[in-house]
Amino acid sequence: MSNTTSNSLGSSSQGLSSDNVIIFDTTLRDGEQALNASLSVHEKLQIAQSLERLGVDIMEVGFPVSSPGDFESVQQIARTIKNARVCGLARAVEADIDACAQALKVADQFRIHTFISTSDVHVQQKLRKEFADVQAMAVHAVKYARKFTDDVEFSCEDAGRTPIDNLCRMVEAAIDAGASTVNIPDTVGYTMPFEFQGIITDLFNRVPNIDKAIISVHCHNDLGLAVANSMAAVQAGARQIECTINGIGERAGNCSLEEVAMIMKTREALLGVNTHINHQEIARTSKLVSTLCNMPVQLNKAIVGGNAFSHSSGIHQDGMLKASNTYEIMTPESVGIAKTKLNLTSRSGRHVIKHRMESLGYQESDYEIEKLYADFLALADKKGQVFDDDLEALLFNIQQQDSQDHYRLDTINVQCGDGEFATASIKLLAGTDSSKVQATTGNGPVDALYQAIKQAVDVEFEVSDYKISNKGSGEDGLGQADLVITWQNRNFHGYGLATDVIEASGQALVHALNSIHRAITIAELKAAK
Ligand code: KIV
Ligand code: ZN
Repeated sequence: MSNTTSNSLGSSSQGLSSDNVIIFDTTLRDGEQALNASLSVHEKLQIAQSLERLGVDIMEVGFPVSSPGDFESVQQIARTIKNARVCGLARAVEADIDACAQALKVADQFRIHTFISTSDVHVQQKLRKEFADVQAMAVHAVKYARKFTDDVEFSCEDAGRTPIDNLCRMVEAAIDAGASTVNIPDTVGYTMPFEFQGIITDLFNRVPNIDKAIISVHCHNDLGLAVANSMAAVQAGARQIECTINGIGERAGNCSLEEVAMIMKTREALLGVNTHINHQEIARTSKLVSTLCNMPVQLNKAIVGGNAFSHSSGIHQDGMLKASNTYEIMTPESVGIAKTKLNLTSRSGRHVIKHRMESLGYQESDYEIEKLYADFLALADKKGQVFDDDLEALLFNIQQQDSQDHYRLDTINVQCGDGEFATASIKLLAGTDSSKVQATTGNGPVDALYQAIKQAVDVEFEVSDYKISNKGSGEDGLGQADLVITWQNRNFHGYGLATDVIEASGQALVHALNSIHRAITIAELKAAK
């Protein structure tokens, strides 16, 4: 079924047609709210810029009323992003909508997304209200949001479990009130694809003003059906999919952006719909989100998993050598995975590095070549050969370093062996003019190092999660340390990368401590206002 609705993005959108499915990315809202440590403003901005380059139509980047940090990041992103519409979330109450409008007004055009629950279980148990009162709140919220922008989206939370008569009433009322997009979430990932398709079909058949809005879907993955449900809804006429990179999000996550984008590209002839996604940006964006969010991607994940394009069995390998379409329905290059692997050495010049970065999907504006080249040479001297993964890891590492960082680890010395204790001594620089030298023991090298850093800083924190992984292939890959530390009931993620895992562990802790320092500075600035 095709949908003849005019698009809700207004005249500045990129020529949407009824065949176009709007990609509404919610990695920085639904995805971020499910992380065990929230992202810094700098990290959110990096992800937003990556999503812009990926070609998403709309990005939902936060819930401004929820915290000053969220407000600030929504505002910064709204100020920076020019080629996608930026959206913020608000419950159906005026204070939330005010916060959203305040944070977003720095953008030329923006969307306010307001929502309220519509299912019996939510209306009765969570909201403890009558459906008619909830409907009145929804109508008021949409009208109120329209005072700030023409682009208002309304969501019927838990639509998947809402009685269809109530859902039809709510959708009609929201459109009448001025919503240009109405979203039908399967909030708890409960519906089956044929059932969800039936709901969308019923809405198209029964809601008299349905042609005045774009129908959107937002499916959660509790039964592993988020992508199937979203595609079934598109077949019934939905023209916006809400999704996240790598499918991150509440509980089992959201519909995965890369999967729906590649379905609509690979099966376009059958489905008759397409998107504005630049598919070759998928792998790069997926890696960035996975690293910054501390959410590894499972090896067998469709499109972006480490094994998504590797062939193990002899029969498959034989087929691939004869013709790649025997076992591949899309190429790795089509999602931005570089085929040729070059091993770089300290003899490789700057132009080779630039060329390699370009093949990996990075533009020259993504990095400062002198800094990257210096780090590359240092690594090449240690490792001999530098691979693509190493190069990307160096770039991530540089992007995490902020000239405003308060703490910097100057020297580390750790000794351990057969004896009872490991010992660590460090020199930690703080601000522009302070440094601290600290030595201590611990029950292992990382423990000794962390005790020394803890004693050198005036911050009471606990390490709540710590892991080391191999970045790149082979035994000489770089070591990546990821840790989560808890300070005043808030979690902070830290990330470090080095050929030496002890050094990577030290960097990760200092990275997280810098985020805490920024949080303290923001709180002090707010208190002084
Ligand atoms: O899952 C959900 O229903 C949501 C809404 C706020 C759209 O995230
Ligand atoms: Zn959701």
